[in-house]
Amino acid sequence: MKACTVRGDQNLPVTEAYRKISTNIQFANIDGNIQTIMMTSSLQNEGKTTTICNIASVMSNDLNKKILLIDLDLRKPAVHKHFNLSNRIGLTDLLFNKDNYEEYINTVSPRLDVLTSGKLPSKTSEILNSNSLKEVIRKLSYHYDYIFFDTPPIASVSDAVTVATYADAVILTVAYSETEAEIAKKSIDSLRQVNANIIGAIFNKVPVTKQNKYYYNYY
Ligand SMILES: Nc1ncnc2c1ncn2[C@@H]1O[C@H](COP(=O)(O)OP(=O)(O)OP(=O)(O)O)[C@@H](O)[C@H]1O
Ligand SMILES: [Mg+2]
Repeated sequence: MKACTVRGDQNLPVTEAYRKISTNIQFANIDGNIQTIMMTSSLQNEGKTTTICNIASVMSNDLNKKILLIDLDLRKPAVHKHFNLSNRIGLTDLLFNKDNYEEYINTVSPRLDVLTSGKLPSKTSEILNSNSLKEVIRKLSYHYDYIFFDTPPIASVSDAVTVATYADAVILTVAYSETEAEIAKKSIDSLRQVNANIIGAIFNKVPVTKQNKYYYNYY
């Protein structure tokens, strides 16, 4: 795995930070009504994919949850790179062969499955908003404790807001000192317009000296 350090060194401070985030997700779900959780951010490169891959690893390894991570970034998919998987086939192929969905899902560790994006479609918004996709997610939900979605940044395309209309919860990654407050606020407004359930924001790429104060923050 490239950036998913969690499985490599269980004692790194960054691993501990992902553990705290995972525990906070569990607290946010105290009533048990959250199963699908999407990760997004305002801008490119804020660390969405890295963060969601690590949270998925920690929740499955340390918290014994059965997790499926789906790459819903159909513009610039990268989940497969983090887990060294091929992206020759994946979600977009599964949508045409829904009866045999197991064939498309990669098991990367005992309780962590990954569904890569598959071939990139031209009509991304239609796919993300399709009943077909929602039906697949509904069927898959019987097999997992949590299903995570990685998505593109909000400021560039409407995809993440589309996914937010049906995800049970949203986590926003905000790159410390890279994302202006105004841009982050606009993203939150866009998500709120579709009644997204924003359960937390993760301050990422925080300088080591400021980590105690800023690394993660749930509200
Ligand atoms: N906490 C962190 N500290 C330092 N670098 C980080 C951190 N999180 C992510 N990165 C690095 O930032 C870069 C972008 O990360 P990543 O691909 O996860 O971002 P992204 O928001 O998913 O990007 P995109 O918008 O292109 O999908 C990568 O090089 C990654 O290794
Ligand atoms: Mg990404």
